[in-house]
Amino acid sequence: MPYLLKFLLIWFLASQSVGESALQSGSDGGDYTCSKIKKCLLGCCGLLDNMGNGICGLGPEFCGPGCTSSCDQKSECDPGWGIQWSKASTCPLNVCCSRYGFCGTTSDFCGGLVVSSPQCDISTNSSNQRTVGYYEGWNWQRSCGKMTPQQIPLGYYTHINFAFSLIDPSTYRLTSMDDTTGLLYQAVSGLKRRQPGLQVWLAVGGWAMNDPGKFRTVFSRLAASPLAQDTFFESLVTFLELNDFDGVDIDWEYPVADDRGGIPADFENYVLLLSRLRARLNNMGRPMGLSVTLPASYWYLRGFDIINLEPHVDWYNVMTYDIHGVWDSTIKSLGPSAHAHTNLTEINEALELLWRNNINPARVNLGLGFYGRSFTMSDPNCMAAGCPFKSGGHAGTCTGIPGILSAAEITKIIADGAKVTLDPVAAVQIVTWDQDQWVSWDDTKTLTMKLQYANKRCLGGLMVWAIDLDDGTLIKSLAEAGSSRHLAFDDLPDTFPCFGPIGNISAT
Ligand SMILES: *[C@@H]1O[C@H](CO)[C@@H](O)[C@H](O)[C@H]1NC(C)=O
Ligand SMILES: *[C@@H]1O[C@H](CO)[C@@H](O)[C@H](O)[C@H]1NC(C)=O
Ligand SMILES: *[C@@H]1O[C@H](CO)[C@@H](O)[C@H](O)[C@H]1NC(C)=O
Repeated sequence: MPYLLKFLLIWFLASQSVGESALQSGSDGGDYTCSKIKKCLLGCCGLLDNMGNGICGLGPEFCGPGCTSSCDQKSECDPGWGIQWSKASTCPLNVCCSRYGFCGTTSDFCGGLVVSSPQCDISTNSSNQRTVGYYEGWNWQRSCGKMTPQQIPLGYYTHINFAFSLIDPSTYRLTSMDDTTGLLYQAVSGLKRRQPGLQVWLAVGGWAMNDPGKFRTVFSRLAASPLAQDTFFESLVTFLELNDFDGVDIDWEYPVADDRGGIPADFENYVLLLSRLRARLNNMGRPMGLSVTLPASYWYLRGFDIINLEPHVDWYNVMTYDIHGVWDSTIKSLGPSAHAHTNLTEINEALELLWRNNINPARVNLGLGFYGRSFTMSDPNCMAAGCPFKSGGHAGTCTGIPGILSAAEITKIIADGAKVTLDPVAAVQIVTWDQDQWVSWDDTKTLTMKLQYANKRCLGGLMVWAIDLDDGTLIKSLAEAGSSRHLAFDDLPDTFPCFGPIGNISAT
């Protein structure tokens, strides 16, 4: 029954490119048949055959005359059978509508249509305009491998984003993650005295802010309320002035996504929030930057009105990492197989979502991970990409979390004799050791490949997560590969001047 197979296939594909979260994509159950007493899990139950069996589908053929049950089901998009059979005429992010009424990006959805991506001569080095590095303000909590603000390598990053500040759920004022992290703001902005031209921005939000808990709905409530925004803006402006910061990066993870505490109204409200924030920052009397982080998966990115957000931001920081990890095990279409988390093929697919919407590539920073996603594999005889894993890799000695290793930790594992295999297409290194340990990461070589890719796509910059996960090796290699023309910086003083007592501002 080719139609049924096709239906199954597109449904699996529909949940495929969703990345880290399709935890709830709630696909299947795997049964697409129905009968007089058995309803469809998805779609309308069409005409029954003389055995009393029917097939589930959408559009007039299944939901129209002769339909047996669930006849009010509507397709995701309208492939031409009329809006009365569909929830929407087109797909989010301008992805393709398949002939069965599902949204997706592969040829099953798009037929022969291809996305036209920006093309630049690599040697124009478009991406060397900026290198934005996030600094994990909480890294002092690690048992080792810490990086104080004074230890941040200078001369490479054009922008440091201090991660994170939160928004108080009842007052809507900025608040520090904790008191100690709150003491570090001025030590980081003080680096501007040592690297002229350096900008230090505040990153507000982060993945954990939208975890279940009291902060989870703050962004949604803020975006919906101009009154709450005004309070937030005043506390932000005070913070920026007091701590000598140059901009703000909003990390809302993620609007609209109900598994992340989002609601449908976020789509429009985020634009309202950003346009009002931009106007407020423009009133500060000196230039203030504004950027937004974007996810690399269709699943989450569809909650962002990227076309209408764009005019308000200086740039988008695209998180083209974490594309795979232990969470894949609960995604039906992927399962517990080890895949690289910064796969260039998949990064290219992610960026196509931007090009489908004519986002200006000069406003896009390519995210680079200075860390790896690791697995403990099921079978020591099957250690290639795609082989099964049973859990996250063993926790690193300093980072202490299963499934993740910092660049500094991986460098040490390699020095101790791990096997390193380059995947030149995915532009990643796969490192294996101790029989069953597996990690994908980017080293000097693959970072250079990704830098060249950023230049080929005319991107305006690079973004790094995170400065403090590197022992200095990776950022140096990026600079040597040509990432930053701001490097003219040979005469940095060898010793750090005293910045005075650091910070007396834990929250504003
Ligand atoms: C990279 O992604 C492509 C497309 O999804 C996949 O075929 C390939 O196996 C991936 N490579 C790695 C190393 O994960
Ligand atoms: C681009 O970067 C490469 C590598 O650093 C350098 O050799 C080349 O001169 C740069 N091109 C331009 C136009 O600046
Ligand atoms: C910190 O701030 C408080 C309140 O503004 C002030 O009383 C105190 O003297 C300050 N401490 C230092 C070490 O600057």
